Amino acid sequence: MSVQSSAYQRCINPQCAATFGCDEVLFECPACGDLLDICYNWDTVPLPERLMDFSTRWATRNDRLDFSGVWRFRELLDFCPDTAKVSIGEGQTVLQQNCGLAAELGMHPTRLFLQYEGLNPSGSFKDNGMTAAFSHATMVGATASACASTGNTSASMALYAHSCGLKATVFIGQGKIAFGKLSQSMDYGAQTIQIDGDFDDCMRQVQDVCRQMKIYLVNSLNPFRLEGQKTIMLRIIEQLGWDVPDWIVVPGGNLGNSSAFGKAFMELKALGLIDRVPRLAVINASGANTLTEIYNDKKLRWNGGNVDEAAIAAYYKGLDASGYRPHTIASAIEISRPVNLKKCLRALEVCDGVVLAVTDEEILDAKAQIGKYGLGCEPASAATIAGLKYLLADGTVGKDDRVACVLTGHVLKDPNATVEYHSRMGREYSNPPLQAANDLDKIIALIK
Ligand code: F0G
Repeated sequence: MSVQSSAYQRCINPQCAATFGCDEVLFECPACGDLLDICYNWDTVPLPERLMDFSTRWATRNDRLDFSGVWRFRELLDFCPDTAKVSIGEGQTVLQQNCGLAAELGMHPTRLFLQYEGLNPSGSFKDNGMTAAFSHATMVGATASACASTGNTSASMALYAHSCGLKATVFIGQGKIAFGKLSQSMDYGAQTIQIDGDFDDCMRQVQDVCRQMKIYLVNSLNPFRLEGQKTIMLRIIEQLGWDVPDWIVVPGGNLGNSSAFGKAFMELKALGLIDRVPRLAVINASGANTLTEIYNDKKLRWNGGNVDEAAIAAYYKGLDASGYRPHTIASAIEISRPVNLKKCLRALEVCDGVVLAVTDEEILDAKAQIGKYGLGCEPASAATIAGLKYLLADGTVGKDDRVACVLTGHVLKDPNATVEYHSRMGREYSNPPLQAANDLDKIIALIK
């Protein structure tokens, strides 16, 4: 097996900072149990001088790696040989300048951009991470994969496992998964185990299953997954003519994306490939708002890696004592124990970030607005626009700031939420079907 020598795994806890080779399959530090990062000896990597040098790969996109929206940036995630890289054409996504929605939000009409990650092969941003995780799995010779999921991770895992011959087992909570997503993992041939519990319960169980059965875990605890998700930021920069926006807005669930974005900007800045780092806004659903409470109310910070673990433990103890269960229409982000919490705190420091929570009604209204002006998205993704409204209202985001909202999942992932919203009367953007008698004049009279 040939392993890229430039990359290694390192514990994020500065008191530990233990390092491991990329040939090891780990989803936590074996020495202290903390999260792991993938690190690079950059001076051994053939980096481009400027990010725009990656443009030359457009001319050679008949090569599968140059075509991939993840692997065409492969020097920035150089942890496995090309022969191990798995790709099914992920990352062909669009950054849409949305003038109509911008104007409706009171922004300068040219300043709002929607990054449509729903255009990925499995319909969500997860494919950016899965292509990286399954490349690592292939490199180390794994034969079986597993994940806990609110639906999109499982759909993506099932698709990638299928494409490279690994077994796939999905753990989902009872009644907690949108049908579009469940149908995908069944269709792609994954074994689906529905646990009598929620996502947080599934997340705990899947870690024990993977430890005991030596199954390859593809949740975002897996540090290789986040390497793939860094490229969402590269594509935004690329589509802005190799310029950095002022703000990135992203929904927060298990906090893998926000963590990956922070790492991307930290590395790009240190490498001199960007001259400034955008600000980051992470938006929770108010029914699953652990990060908001930890960051805004408890004021927890990254603090050079010395995160106040006791405060986090006390917070979770409080949730247990009150029998708290998260609840939101945005089922993708219905998570109360985000596994990447500490890495997200780091991202918030790197990007001078802000955090806030929005209600289900605000999410659904924003979702209908996105649908009206753009390609549509699932509820969790719409938390971005719902959150942006608050940030514009209090002046945190300026009307002339360039804002890129990451729309994480396709509108068809959760058709029930869409149909229910539009069927309800009285919502600002609802658009219910009109009932007509089977009569030409009456039908014509209805058409406006
Ligand atoms: N948006 C969508 C559509 C998601 O599916 C998820 C997470 C998130 C946002 C949150 O992203 O975890 O990086 O903060 N879905 C996971 C799943 C949990 O199992 O599909 P995050």
